[in-house]
Amino acid sequence: MTRKLFIKTYGCQMNAYDSARMADVMAPHGYALTDTPESADMVVLNTCHIREKAAEKVYSELGRLRELKRERAAEGRPMIVAVAGCVAQAEGEEMIRRTDAVDIVVGPQVYHRLPEMVAKLAREAKAFDTEFPAVDKFDTLPETKSVDGPAALLTVQEGCDKFCTFCVVPYTRGAEYSRSVVQIEAEARHLVELGVREITLLGQNVNAFHGAGDDGETWGLGRLIRRLAQIEGLARLRYMTSHPRDMDDALIAAHAEEAKLMPYLHLPVQSGSNVVLEAMNRGHTADEYRKLVGRIRAARPDIALSSDFIVGFPGESDADFEATMDLVREIGFAQSFSFKYSPRPGTPAAAARKQIPEDVKGARLEQLQALLNEQEQAFLRRCAGQEFDVLFEKPGRYDGQLIGRSPYLQSVHVAARGQKIGDIARVRVVQTMPHSLRGELISEAVRAAEAVA
Ligand code: SAH
Ligand code: SF4
Ligand code: F3S
Repeated sequence: MTRKLFIKTYGCQMNAYDSARMADVMAPHGYALTDTPESADMVVLNTCHIREKAAEKVYSELGRLRELKRERAAEGRPMIVAVAGCVAQAEGEEMIRRTDAVDIVVGPQVYHRLPEMVAKLAREAKAFDTEFPAVDKFDTLPETKSVDGPAALLTVQEGCDKFCTFCVVPYTRGAEYSRSVVQIEAEARHLVELGVREITLLGQNVNAFHGAGDDGETWGLGRLIRRLAQIEGLARLRYMTSHPRDMDDALIAAHAEEAKLMPYLHLPVQSGSNVVLEAMNRGHTADEYRKLVGRIRAARPDIALSSDFIVGFPGESDADFEATMDLVREIGFAQSFSFKYSPRPGTPAAAARKQIPEDVKGARLEQLQALLNEQEQAFLRRCAGQEFDVLFEKPGRYDGQLIGRSPYLQSVHVAARGQKIGDIARVRVVQTMPHSLRGELISEAVRAAEAVA
């Protein structure tokens, strides 16, 4: 009998990867994906704990599911609700006590055990597992059966040992762990066989990757990228998220020499103030970040940089905030994510005395976002008139239109009759929109004529 599974994903791309893998795990047990909780026999909320708002969303969703569950039970069609991801890991069994909507709590390291947990519900009222097991979940996950378009995610590294004082990730995802090169390469080849042309390598700290190579040595991310770039049919590689401290020479050199490695780098700096960076335990100064960006740009001058920022970290003065604004002005980011500091239970910064008032955080965020948005617009404007390759990922709003990504990760809308999803075509940017670009196909004939002229 086919049952229906609805998965709602919150948080980062690692959660998106995990959601797809949970679907793979449940498929052999008769669960097929569906688009709404109303039509589902099982609902998984794959949750994020990074900021208070993210965690709160889960409880409001659980409130809705509780009602739905009641209706379904009255109809004699029971529904299972599982909470996975970082809130599950952080709150554990407490979630089951807090709301009766939850049947299963499963941590990010043990979701390969979901079928056993579902089976357990026949015998027991609730199932709960948030272990960090010694056995590698990746060894037991089934092969992916289908992909969602030509751009895929592939987790190569998990966890974090950096312990930034604001962050829950080291507690929810555990210690740093890297998959083996053999395992990663096999998964990448399999994705390419399924039609994938671009792979984004994922990790909470992806450039801390130190996986076992097939030569008995430990490989870094730069070396892994060079190996994966040899896969025929794979056109593009990306990776995220990186930590400035782990940006080594081999990885920077890969940006200079490996054509399949796209010129985009998400390299969060969080703050431009040395005092704040130290209090955050980031392990580098603002000047070290500037120098690092200098080295990366020397290797790949057109690289598009993006970053994450936190404003209103405990103790952040006006001068500290100005230092962040200065750093942003100097570097120039193509894209960014910025947040108000959110105190998280159990993290050192949450206990700091000098918390910043909400209105100050709000005012600083507004100022920073105005500058970051200006820089994003400037980057998009500089793309106007440029030509680059676009990988088409999905249909656009209009007949014959396709939407793809530029090498710099911008969405590009193209009137692309004759092209199909998964194709890579040469495109000229003709218009910039608030967060995307519009382009035209450059035909072979035009290119040949231009070459003569
Ligand atoms: N591993 C990555 C990012 C992990 S979380 C790194 O080291 O950069 C993604 C982003 O969420 C962080 O870069 C940070 O900007 C933000 N973030 C994390 N904890 C936060 C908190 N307590 N309050 C506000 N933003 C936070
Ligand atoms: Fe969190 Fe810092 Fe680790 Fe990033 S490096 S996941 S911000 S502790
Ligand atoms: Fe959120 Fe966990 Fe990712 S806290 S950002 S889902 S690692």
